[in-house]
Amino acid sequence: MSKSENRKGFTSKLGVILATVGTAVGLGNIWRFPYIVGENGGGAFLIIYFFCLLFLGLPVVLAEFTVGRRAQSNAVDAYKKFSNHPIWSRIGYLGVLAGFLIMGYYAVVVGWTIDYLYEAIVGNLQGHTPEAYTQLFAELSGDTIYPILLVIGVMGLTCYIISQGVQSGIEKVSRFLMPMLFLLMLGLAGYALSLDGAYEGLHFLFYPDFSDVTARTFLDAMGQCFFSLSLGMGCLTTYASYFKKDVNLPKTAVQVISIDTLVAIIAGVIIFPAVFSFGVEPTQGPGLVYVVLPNVFQKMLGGQILAIMFYALLFIAALTSIMSLLEVVTAYVHEKFNLSRTKSAIVVTILVIIMAIFASLSCGAMPELSLFGKNIFDIFDFISATILLPLGGMAISIYAGWIIDNKILYAEFAKNNKYSLNLFKAYAFILKYIAPVCILIVFIGSFI
Ligand code: TRP
Repeated sequence: MSKSENRKGFTSKLGVILATVGTAVGLGNIWRFPYIVGENGGGAFLIIYFFCLLFLGLPVVLAEFTVGRRAQSNAVDAYKKFSNHPIWSRIGYLGVLAGFLIMGYYAVVVGWTIDYLYEAIVGNLQGHTPEAYTQLFAELSGDTIYPILLVIGVMGLTCYIISQGVQSGIEKVSRFLMPMLFLLMLGLAGYALSLDGAYEGLHFLFYPDFSDVTARTFLDAMGQCFFSLSLGMGCLTTYASYFKKDVNLPKTAVQVISIDTLVAIIAGVIIFPAVFSFGVEPTQGPGLVYVVLPNVFQKMLGGQILAIMFYALLFIAALTSIMSLLEVVTAYVHEKFNLSRTKSAIVVTILVIIMAIFASLSCGAMPELSLFGKNIFDIFDFISATILLPLGGMAISIYAGWIIDNKILYAEFAKNNKYSLNLFKAYAFILKYIAPVCILIVFIGSFI
């Protein structure tokens, strides 16, 4: 029986853009991007990142959109639609697994963000020494119960939104939150650019220093591209299954990628001028937004308000992203096991909370929760972002390039637009040859 008749999709093109940008823009843009740029020599990384977007990001986003809108089903079933061979149906399962792993640590970080928002509101991010901020973060992430309660809160809220469905859950929340996110970002960026260190910060962000570029830089750029665009695990496939026929897929892909990249760069424009104005080191790793920024905020005029704005922004971005992750797994459980949406969302949420408890405890309270010198939190991140997403991306590009009939690929590409046939040929060529080979090379290269 086809379930596609009773699937409710996004109501308008604006809804499509806001919801899809909602999944893409998240911790990846504001928390991960700046520190990865910082570790990889600023502008040189940006150039490599732009190439990744053009040659990997854009074609794979389009491929996911194509599979999703054609198949009109959850990610697992979608990849069974165009081929009976069991290997291809596994793409969707890989996605479900990646979804669990990402949520397992993402929920922990969203929990920290809520605490920082609270600390900012009560004025606790003011008037301390740098050591005190290092201590504050260590105490929060190392605590036993409190971060777990935050995770339960985050996942409870996400579960509630997802159980409301695509239109009154995802679309409604994105329509309200995304414009707020853009306003907060522009306000903060305007302020950052007025600081004394603005020039130095922008120089660091944009000046290409190739002496820091190594093989690792390419892997980081590719991993960041997949993570930031929510690629390689069926997230965009699931969202595109809610797109109507009148959506122009290439245009939507370009819009979503441009906004996602713009937001990441604006996050850099907010963070680096501030960091340089107050003399802290830009390459601080994941602690950048929790350890470094409080030092910066407290020295700024109106720092408390800026801190509140910043952590609110981070929370909004993260919430709309974790919604999409929960949606991938929920849509699968809902359609596969004939369970109601609400029950499916609850079951998945409970499993995620259990995983997140391990991830959270491994950050300090129980350091013995580790393997090969990495704690569970880092293992979840490493397996999902560095292994499963590129693998998934490679599988999806091979699937779209070689398995799906070229006519179907073209029909979805050319619907509602007049793009030239040559553009399509370039796209199909990249999917067939360039994307899989590049991913494979970078992937193997990084392990050597
Ligand atoms: N793209 C989001 C971010 O930048 C995270 C995310 C949401 C994601 N859904 C995803 C990452 C699916 C990979 C796959 O924070």
